[in-house]
Amino acid sequence: MTIPDLDWNNLGFEYRDLPFRYISKWKDGKWDAGTLTEDSTLHVSEASAALHYGQQGFEGLKAYRTKDGSVQLFRPDKNAERLQKTADRLIMPHVETEQFVEACRQVVAANIDWVPPYGSGATLYLRPLLIGVGSVIGVRPAPEYIFTIFAMPVGPYYKGGLKPNNYITAEFDRAAPHGTGANKVGGNYAASILPGQLAHDAGFADCVYLDPATHTKIEEIGGANFFGITADNQFITPLSPSILPSITKYSLLHIAGERFGMETIEGDVPLDGLDKFVEAGACGTAAVISPIGGIQIGDNFHKFYSTEEVGPVTTKLYNELVGIQFGDIEAPEGWIVKV
Ligand code: PLP
Ligand code: COI
Repeated sequence: MTIPDLDWNNLGFEYRDLPFRYISKWKDGKWDAGTLTEDSTLHVSEASAALHYGQQGFEGLKAYRTKDGSVQLFRPDKNAERLQKTADRLIMPHVETEQFVEACRQVVAANIDWVPPYGSGATLYLRPLLIGVGSVIGVRPAPEYIFTIFAMPVGPYYKGGLKPNNYITAEFDRAAPHGTGANKVGGNYAASILPGQLAHDAGFADCVYLDPATHTKIEEIGGANFFGITADNQFITPLSPSILPSITKYSLLHIAGERFGMETIEGDVPLDGLDKFVEAGACGTAAVISPIGGIQIGDNFHKFYSTEEVGPVTTKLYNELVGIQFGDIEAPEGWIVKV
């Protein structure tokens, strides 16, 4: 195997044009057989609904190199199901779970040398993408669709990995109360570019979105869900129809409840009730678990455990999650798919 000449221990979260990606096209009511290709450019009509009206959705998941050198995916069926929900919301065709998971396996297998070595902490990030193509100029569903999955080796999304970062509440919303916040559509991310940039410019890792109706409760962090830990061992995470249902978050709810005997709660996280949290974190595929040092709320900086150190419960949850993902700790049934 040719090992690419990369500094695996110090990868950022950046695009890289790998040798192979999967592509499948939908036309006349059905998907074609799908194939791997070396072409990293999509050729689409200038009147594609994805380009003008944002009729598209995407996913993010990772492949992990285990200690014995084998490679595995973490809960890819859940990403397939979430993309199906996104497709329903935007009237796009489903990619069935079997096709989705098989395509992930093909992309990883074709780029296997690019799966970072065990112990580097890095992973191969997969980006499945479903877009409406073909020519339409009125606002209606596209006549054709492309489903593609490309991949790249990545390190931590938020600086330092398991090091606390600080965040600031956003004045803008990424989604509306009855909008597309719970779906992984590009439009939510387009709406987040300015608030994200403003947060970075002010020296924060990202922004914290508040509930769009009242701006009094925490919804989520830029590209991740929020969780807080209370002194009496509760794991609390926001419940809202406008946040992305994070697969990492649901995995942590399971781990916290079933493995660590914590009380798990999905509910409101009011800004004026943050004192009850002794630790807090951002969780997601790209973010993994990124401890939150504190949140700037107007003139007030609310500190959680520490801006320098990681709290003990966050550390315990991180070790269990990452241990499962890299195959060091037994996974709950069905969570791991070998490539
Ligand atoms: N919230 C947003 C806005 C995201 O972009 C992501 C990333 O996918 C998440 C939460 C975390 O979701 P998951 O754990 O499924 O990656
Ligand atoms: C992911 O975690 O997979 C995401 O899509 C988040 C994104 C902000 C990179």
